[in-house]
Amino acid sequence: MSNNKPMVVTIDGPSGSGKGTLSQMLAKHLGYHLLDSGALYRLVALAAMKRSIDLTNEVLVAAIAQNLNVEFSVKGESMLVLLDGEDVTDAIRQEVVSMGASKVAAHPAVRAALLDRQRAFARAPGLIADGRDMGTAVFPSAPTKIFLTASAEARAERRFKQLQAKGEVIDMAKLVADIRERDERDSKRAVSPLVPAADATIIDSTNIGIADVFARMLALIKQN
Ligand code: DC
Repeated sequence: MSNNKPMVVTIDGPSGSGKGTLSQMLAKHLGYHLLDSGALYRLVALAAMKRSIDLTNEVLVAAIAQNLNVEFSVKGESMLVLLDGEDVTDAIRQEVVSMGASKVAAHPAVRAALLDRQRAFARAPGLIADGRDMGTAVFPSAPTKIFLTASAEARAERRFKQLQAKGEVIDMAKLVADIRERDERDSKRAVSPLVPAADATIIDSTNIGIADVFARMLALIKQN
């Protein structure tokens, strides 16, 4: 890869696999930019819900995606997300928005509308791109592609702890069922389904601690 081309590392996988946390850790460690592509789908869902738009209406939802007025900024250790100038950092993480994001992400026109916006994140010195189709559709020529996964139960347990820490009360059985429903929709959709790129390295984090996964990822990045 030439020196003036930003290094792109794609990290794809299902929700709760730990890719959000690991992507942040890697970006910070390497001094790279970070693309949380899931946040973009969440923002589209939230913006559509705020306008009472039916999430199954592909044309209207794609128009929202095309005109999304969003700003990402760093506030201390965390990332601040603004939609039309309003702080929606926490709002986009609610379960109802997770479900909405999975629905809007199934529309090809919505995915197409977000493509250039995502690619614009690739700037020097490099980018950690976190999502579902980073290695297959958005950055197919990235030199390092990682697919991070874990069992549905392990992922539900992690999500449960995250939501609990935020004071959201949620039933564990419902969480496992929701995760399975989202996995099913994300991996079966016709456009950019959640599948590992042919040249991705697959890491299963069910029984590996975060520090070990981090070390394995860093070693993979340094190989390229
Ligand atoms: O990673 P996340 O949980 O924030 O993603 C929210 C939803 O967006 C998820 O159900 C799948 C979808 N998504 C997608 O289809 N493609 C991406 N690159 C990122 C997220």
